[in-house]
Amino acid sequence: MVNEMNLKEYISFTKDRVETRLPEVVKALHAPVNLKESMLYSLTAGGKRLRPVLLFATLHAFGKDENMGLETACAVEMIHTYSLIHDDLPSMDDDDLRRGKPTNHKVYGEATAILAGDALLTNSFQLISEAAHPEITSHMKLQLITELVKASGTEGMISGQVADMEGEKKQLTLDELEYIHLHKTGKLLGFCVKAGAILAKATPLQQELLEEFSKHVGLAFQIQDDILDVEGSEEKLGKPIGSDTENEKTTYPSLLGMEAAKEKLQYHVEQALLSLRQAQIKHGLLEEICLYIAKRDS
Ligand code: IPE
Ligand code: IPE
Ligand code: MG
Ligand code: MG
Ligand code: MG
Repeated sequence: MVNEMNLKEYISFTKDRVETRLPEVVKALHAPVNLKESMLYSLTAGGKRLRPVLLFATLHAFGKDENMGLETACAVEMIHTYSLIHDDLPSMDDDDLRRGKPTNHKVYGEATAILAGDALLTNSFQLISEAAHPEITSHMKLQLITELVKASGTEGMISGQVADMEGEKKQLTLDELEYIHLHKTGKLLGFCVKAGAILAKATPLQQELLEEFSKHVGLAFQIQDDILDVEGSEEKLGKPIGSDTENEKTTYPSLLGMEAAKEKLQYHVEQALLSLRQAQIKHGLLEEICLYIAKRDS
């Protein structure tokens, strides 16, 4: 089993890779300076880089070189960052702080923030299509792009965000809330594990087990996000607490109570680990990431 220190090192290794590559990608684009600045502002503001960590750790579990997943990991961070820029807009969650800094629209204005989000989303796919690694085939790229569209697009994250907005000021059922969490957050996290599996040529059974693993990881991650919105520290999170209450969102703590929400979180961690341990891969790091997600405070 990988210990705390090793996981920390792995997170920092991933951060280094991704945070070196992302500015290179944006700087190489021919576009107005203000747009590139706004894209870079949010992209380089920090963030845990947990999605790249999951992708790299999946490759690692199959004994593959993390470099194989670098462009895809950056593409995911670009999509994730765009989703945060849009999520914070006045017409959505209307938040002023993100990754410890004023939100993108507070600095660049709403129009540029929307367009920076659009730009990050669109260019993410180019990054995958142009990925140059001797082991990445055109067929793999096609699979990656198709799966990324499914996870982040209409049937994935966007549907989750729409359901989240429509659910404001309403009491949702647990099933409706689970739908929101699985889509707005779970799908993109799940894509990261799937991308690792595609690149590592996992068997259909391994893909199935990893899909089950990441579904529970996604739910656990968003339940903890809901819990931190109540119990977390604004300083550590780098985003406001109490945003969900202010926007009258149904969350796990608001629906079930804090204690039951924490039990649900624990349940999903256990289910995730059950599937993971059957996949016959070097699963130590993924296991540590799953446990970290459940007890994170940022
Ligand atoms: C925040 O995601 C948005 C959710 C999906 C809950 P993260 O907590 O991964 O945000 P960063 O990337 O670390 O800022
Ligand atoms: C955001 O969920 C999910 C996406 C951005 C797709 P939240 O609205 O709960 O995320 P935070 O709490 O603002 O980071
Ligand atoms: Mg939101
Ligand atoms: Mg939000
Ligand atoms: Mg939240």
